[in-house]
Amino acid sequence: MEGYEGWAQVDELTAGLLVGEDEALAAALAASAQAGLPAIAVSPNQGKLLAMLARLHGARSILELGTLGGYSTIWLARALAPGGRLVTLELQADYAAVASANIERAGLSDVVEVRVGPAGEGMRGLIDAGEGPFDLIFIDADKQSTPEYFTLALELSRPGGIVVVDNVVRGGAVADPDTEDAGARGMRRFLELAAREPRVSGTTIQTVGAKGWDGFTFMVVEGE
Ligand code: SAH
Ligand code: DHB
Ligand code: MG
Repeated sequence: MEGYEGWAQVDELTAGLLVGEDEALAAALAASAQAGLPAIAVSPNQGKLLAMLARLHGARSILELGTLGGYSTIWLARALAPGGRLVTLELQADYAAVASANIERAGLSDVVEVRVGPAGEGMRGLIDAGEGPFDLIFIDADKQSTPEYFTLALELSRPGGIVVVDNVVRGGAVADPDTEDAGARGMRRFLELAAREPRVSGTTIQTVGAKGWDGFTFMVVEGE
């Protein structure tokens, strides 16, 4: 059992034993597939990790970039402290509509706000309206814009806040200086930016699983 098939089997086994994906999460994936959305949500094990981070951090305000069908949104929103809220930004109106129905079915409409439009504009709107700061920011939209999102996230994060970036490793392409994968190049630029940024401390964790070989960068923004 090596390579992709083995990773997927271990993901299935371990998620089945510990993760506890329930009806609303399964329904969100089924409805997303039915509506023709790409199957690129975080895995159940990864969704649980995000939820655990939010819970451990006591997050009361969460910002997500890249809603897709709302699968990671549901994991994160369920982990909010009482009275908390989550704002999620999605470019595609049709994806956002699927997500809103999934979020409603999960009973989370009162705490989640889905905003349609480019994430950069949405972030600048949040800054201008003074709607921050956020305790946790999950960056998972178009990969080539990650450097810009990281810079804006610093303005929207509270001191001591957490910023998580998905899809940093891209099958190893992030470490290939000649890669033509625009997403991987964006991730490389983001990591170089983060390295020069005195306000953040972070680490990158590679993952294998049902979604292949990828990884997250986890950062804490200085303060407190
Ligand atoms: N977070 C989701 C997966 C997001 S996939 C989950 O794990 O369940 C990436 C999403 O980013 C897609 O839905 C895509 O439409 C959206 N996206 C792409 N470019 C964007 C942009 N400029 N602004 C906001 N969202 C964008
Ligand atoms: C892909 C995976 C993701 O997690 C994502 O957010 C966007 C795209 C992909 O595999 O193409
Ligand atoms: Mg992703």
